Amino acid sequence: MQNNPSVLVLDKNENSREVIRGYIQEAGFVSDVLLFDDYNKGYEKLKEIGGNCIVIMDISSEEDSSLEEAAEKIKLHTSRLVITSSDYSTNTIIKALRAGAKEFLPKPVLRDDLIRVLSVLSSINPDNESQQSKIITLYSNKGGIGKTTIAINLAAELAKVTKTKVALIDLNLQLGDISTFLNLNPAFDVNYVIKNMLDKDEDIFIKAFEKYKDTSLYVLSDPSYIEQSESITPQQITELFRALKKVFPYIVVDMSANIDANSLKILDCSDWIIFTTIVNIPAIRNAQRCLNLFRSRRYPKDKVKIIINRYMDNDEIKVEDIENTLGEKIYWKVPNNYFTIMEAVNKGVIIEEINPASNIAENFKEFASKVSDDIIEQEVIQYRF
Ligand SMILES: Nc1ncnc2c1ncn2[C@@H]1O[C@H](COP(=O)(O)OP(=O)(O)OP(=O)(O)O)[C@@H](O)[C@H]1O
Ligand SMILES: [Mg+2]
Repeated sequence: MQNNPSVLVLDKNENSREVIRGYIQEAGFVSDVLLFDDYNKGYEKLKEIGGNCIVIMDISSEEDSSLEEAAEKIKLHTSRLVITSSDYSTNTIIKALRAGAKEFLPKPVLRDDLIRVLSVLSSINPDNESQQSKIITLYSNKGGIGKTTIAINLAAELAKVTKTKVALIDLNLQLGDISTFLNLNPAFDVNYVIKNMLDKDEDIFIKAFEKYKDTSLYVLSDPSYIEQSESITPQQITELFRALKKVFPYIVVDMSANIDANSLKILDCSDWIIFTTIVNIPAIRNAQRCLNLFRSRRYPKDKVKIIINRYMDNDEIKVEDIENTLGEKIYWKVPNNYFTIMEAVNKGVIIEEINPASNIAENFKEFASKVSDDIIEQEVIQYRF
């Protein structure tokens, strides 16, 4: 049984500090309340206390850049950060969550809201914390459509944009090619991890992943032998995702076009499915059939995002035509750029390393920002005041 956490309040307004202290003292599950108007003194105290601490930081009068800087410092010691502000526009809430806050409270802080948040955060064991984590799966029921290309480059850019650990998992169990595309020689693969590593602690578990250069992208490749893929069960896929979610805030999955029991399990477990199509009639007909499958599985509407790969402005079929046929909006378009992509594949690197100014490299950067913003925004929806 862990001890009750301490609460550290960083707030420049004396009245607010005292009100918050009063509310917290009424709640029995906090061991100590420490108030600071000087944030630097607050960080020093946090360093001293260590992990079992909840920080409530007010940003009402802070600049955006100092918010990020402050959150970075706090997150080195605790992830249990609550941000308060008298400005509770969607933009401010998004900024707070993007900076790593677990909760946002509008000011003046209400007693019941504060108690609810503290009671949730104090029940988290800091040594074994499960985080809000998202599984984003690239899928198309047609082969050769660009799933692997997009999974790799989206994951790499997500790692940069979010500055957090992103896992890239090759669940194309028989024909995976992420390690070839990235020129990696992994010591472990997904089959080994499923059979041997799922119960290991984070520091050992993460060693099974191949880090892509000096980035926070962690790659897990497909099984080395085709027959190994046959021994992987849907239950093991669920267990793999459970273990991944404890370590990685974002998990990007590449998979095969087949629909079998394992694929359905991957799709069911995903938070987002990025369904990829190209602009031609057979691909769009296939997309229609696949979307019907998703509807029959009652996936929530915002789970499936449809994107177009190899997009060209002068395509004969227009985006509106595709949207009308599928009855869904197109979420994103990735431009056609065969030469840059082939050069990246041949050199075993991500597209940005070939030409960061190319339309396709720019596109992946913007795509990753949109995905991370939209994921945060989905979380913001729960904050209705
Ligand atoms: N935006 C793009 N512009 C030009 N070429 C592309 C684009 N995206 C992918 N390609 C090319 O299309 C081919 C198939 O891409 P990729 O291997 O990523 O598809 P896939 O859906 O993963 O295929 P599989 O079903 O075999 O796993 C590759 O040669 C790749 O270089
Ligand atoms: Mg592929």
